[in-house]
Amino acid sequence: MKKLLVDVHSHIYTARLVSLLRSRSVNPRIHRESSDGTEKLAILPQEVAGGRTVGPQYWDVRNKVSFMQRHAIDVSIVSLANPWLDWMDAKQAVTSARECNADLEEYCHQATQLFEDAKGSSIQPERRMRAFGILPLAEGVEVDEVVKCLDAIKAAPSLCGAILGSRGLGRGLDDPRLEPVWEKAAELGLVLFLHPHYGLGSDASQPDGLWGQQDNGHVLPLALGFPFETAAATTRLILAGVFDRHPQLRLLVAHSGGALPILSSRLASCVAHDPHVCNRLEHDPRYYLGKLYYDAVAYGPEELEGVAKIIGRAQRYGPRAASADVKLGIARMHFGTDHPFFPPTRHDGTVITDDQTEIWRSVSENVEAIDSVSSWSDADKHAVLGLNAVSLFGL
Ligand code: URA
Ligand code: ZN
Repeated sequence: MKKLLVDVHSHIYTARLVSLLRSRSVNPRIHRESSDGTEKLAILPQEVAGGRTVGPQYWDVRNKVSFMQRHAIDVSIVSLANPWLDWMDAKQAVTSARECNADLEEYCHQATQLFEDAKGSSIQPERRMRAFGILPLAEGVEVDEVVKCLDAIKAAPSLCGAILGSRGLGRGLDDPRLEPVWEKAAELGLVLFLHPHYGLGSDASQPDGLWGQQDNGHVLPLALGFPFETAAATTRLILAGVFDRHPQLRLLVAHSGGALPILSSRLASCVAHDPHVCNRLEHDPRYYLGKLYYDAVAYGPEELEGVAKIIGRAQRYGPRAASADVKLGIARMHFGTDHPFFPPTRHDGTVITDDQTEIWRSVSENVEAIDSVSSWSDADKHAVLGLNAVSLFGL
């Protein structure tokens, strides 16, 4: 039986956002100042080589549909790519969030029309493209605007949650001003997708900083900075008691939870030994890992197996102190691609930008990783590849 493939981690920039990024002279921006003459997207805090080459795969719905067809992806839930609206002033962020959400709705509608002409999935065309909405999270925005936006996302037919970075309203996600956001998202049952952008900050890329002196491209910030940022942002939510106050909150964490799963017992020990924190939470920190959802963008079967085990033991630390159950972990994991980031590279190191023909290694690696977890049954693999997403998002 063909496995249903649902991609919960797939990015775009809307055409309107692309125009805005093209009009800017400081990062984040899209520019043509590089020596190779290509358009570059410069978004990371300390961008190397002027940024990465971009093309229509970042904004054109035809490209996304072609990518899905080529990789047998039945449903994609697209989200705006980083750094979202973080850099805007308050007024612009509120207006842009409204516009972006309308544009995302239209994007899904256009995809439906393209799927009508295409074969390749048993899923009806109008159900194959969904989107995470965007929230006006930027400095100076009143939290009421964010809450209103959650209501609007809930009412939008193609939007099934919202993506967010780690900055919130400028002071991180443990900012008490965000309390109404968690409350509203939990009440509406919307999935919030937590995604990194800042890595370990600009200090890391100084000559004497963590990333060292060699030109290692984007490797260190993406492979290590992103997962640490995600781990820190999620831990700050846990330590702020957000999951004690809002146990129904549905938070999907990028890149399989980043560094958090592997560090969760260390976190628990540090909490238990710290007089500032040891009595703050209702449960051992490891319990809260069982309240989260995770993408399966980890690229290796051993990592996926380990993350599922770590999530599955969360209930050992819950109110009933039940024994660990890896099935509970597997039920929280969801296939993703991170398209259009990580396109194939040629032997000479150049990136294949607007490719419409290749099978992307970054995709097949993640499918194969799921398919080759030795302790998972076929049903477990089906679940992670698509069925978990069907139930989480009500697809
Ligand atoms: N690089 C980014 O900047 N964002 C992603 O989502 C993936 C890679
Ligand atoms: Zn991503």
